[in-house]
Amino acid sequence: MKHILFIVGSLRKNSFNRQLAKIAEDLLKDRFEISYLDFKDIPYMNQDLESRQDHMTTSQQAVFRVRQEVLKADGIWIFTPEYNQSYPGLLKNLLDWLSRPMDISNFANPTAVQGKKVTVSGAGGRNKTKSCREKLNELLEYIKMNVMKEPQTGIALGMEAWVKGEFNLTEEQINELKIQAEKFAEFLEK
Ligand SMILES: Cc1cc2nc3c(=O)[nH]c(=O)nc-3n(C[C@H](O)[C@H](O)[C@H](O)COP(=O)(O)O)c2cc1C
Repeated sequence: MKHILFIVGSLRKNSFNRQLAKIAEDLLKDRFEISYLDFKDIPYMNQDLESRQDHMTTSQQAVFRVRQEVLKADGIWIFTPEYNQSYPGLLKNLLDWLSRPMDISNFANPTAVQGKKVTVSGAGGRNKTKSCREKLNELLEYIKMNVMKEPQTGIALGMEAWVKGEFNLTEEQINELKIQAEKFAEFLEK
C-alpha cells in the first residue's frame, strides 16, 4: 500500500485544516496508508545546527526524524490556513529544513523532498486560501517537489466556523475534496 503523509499548517487544537485533513483521510484510507507529520519539535532554521557533530542534539534529532518520515512517504498532502495572504511561518520553517541536503557536506547531495509528489488544500476566509496556495505552490516547485497544482481545494469557512468554531462542509465542498483526492491518488499511482 502506498503511503501519504499529511502535513497540517496549523497548531490550533480545533484546527479547521486538521478537520479538513481528517475528511480527506476518510476518503483515502482504504487505498493508502495515511499518517500525519508531527513537526512541533523542530527548531527554527539555524545554519549552525546543520553542521555535523558526533552526537545529535535533541533538536537535530527532530529534524532527522521529520526528514525520515518525509523520505518514506510516496506523497505529501498539505492542509493549510492562509496567514496574511501567504502560508504560515511554521510551514516555511519546516520547508526550509526540508529544502537542505540531508548531508550538508556537499550541496549536490539529495534533499528529503526533491521529486516528491505533493498537493495542497486550505480552509480560511473568503479568499479560499488562494493567495496562500499560489505562494506555497511556488515554494514547493522551487524546492524541486513534484506539485499537483490542479485541482486543489480551497474552502471559504462559513459563518458558524467564525462564530461557533464549527466546521461544516457543503456537499459541493466535499465533492471538490473528493475530486482532488481522486486525482492525487491517480498521480501517485502513475
Ligand atoms: C496571523 C493570521 C493571519 C490571517 N490572515 C488571513 C488571511 O490573509 N486570509 C484568510 O482567509 N484568513 C486569515 N486568517 C484567518 C485564518 O484563515 C483562520 O483563523 C483559520 O481558521 C485558521 O485555520 P485553522 O483553523 O486550521 O487554524 C489569519 C489568521 C491569523 C492567525
